[in-house]
Amino acid sequence: MITPVKKNEDNLSHICQSISARWKDVAGFKKEIEDTYALLGYRWEVDPNDQIHYLTALHTLVLESGVEQIIQTGTHAGFSAISMALALRKKGTDGCIVTIDPEPYNYGGEVVNNPVQIARAVAQLSGLDRYIRFIRGYSLQPWDEGRMDLPDAPINILNKLAEKPFADFMLVDGDHTFKGTYYDMVAGAKALKPDGSRLMFVHDYMSIEDVQNAIHTWRDKNQHRIDFRAYKQQNGYALMQLTA
Ligand SMILES: C[S@@+](CC[C@H](N)C(=O)[O-])C[C@H]1O[C@@H](n2cnc3c(N)ncnc32)[C@H](O)[C@@H]1O
Repeated sequence: MITPVKKNEDNLSHICQSISARWKDVAGFKKEIEDTYALLGYRWEVDPNDQIHYLTALHTLVLESGVEQIIQTGTHAGFSAISMALALRKKGTDGCIVTIDPEPYNYGGEVVNNPVQIARAVAQLSGLDRYIRFIRGYSLQPWDEGRMDLPDAPINILNKLAEKPFADFMLVDGDHTFKGTYYDMVAGAKALKPDGSRLMFVHDYMSIEDVQNAIHTWRDKNQHRIDFRAYKQQNGYALMQLTA
């Protein structure tokens, strides 16, 4: 197994152990998120199966590692961004999540309309907006027409961010096509700074075949420089660490 060479001490095995230890208290974190969303004036239940597990994983990863600068594709209603922002606030850092979404009116035929507006409102009401920078646009190109209408919005945001690599952690949860996932990983890896934690998380490893194929294609091309773990319950996720 490759031992990643990094300036800080973050290590994938250690991060995975911390995440497993937190499974014992998913109920506590579920309540914390639901209380944060209750600031909207109504109660929003976090799905106790898939959603709470990946949100707990993201929260733990940010809380118990040196991760401070984060890029995310796919903001939606903000559950993952808010989970990570809660961790940044607990750490008392100046960290930031840059989260990208073209902001379609509706995504996947869900009952929620304007989901990113919900994320913006929760961030503001909870004071977490100082940790989240919302960017309206496509990480790369408008490819995911099967799940959403494709609004006019700026393109290639991730490529622009990668011109000056600054991120410790890349979260891919935007375009769920093969091409969208694969190229988000390619561009996202370029946005990771050489001396940071160099972590990448891709949601839906088990639930979407195109996503899994994209992850495997990218992993196989980069085998010499990544440490790879997969969480295979529910929708699943892949968590990877790159060498510089
Ligand atoms: C499954 S949702 C993300 C869920 C979110 N991470 C959370 O935890 O609440 C997928 C989101 O990706 C967005 N999306 C689709 N294509 C995108 C692209 N090319 N760049 C960025 N976001 C994209 C959609 O608009 C949608 O809001």
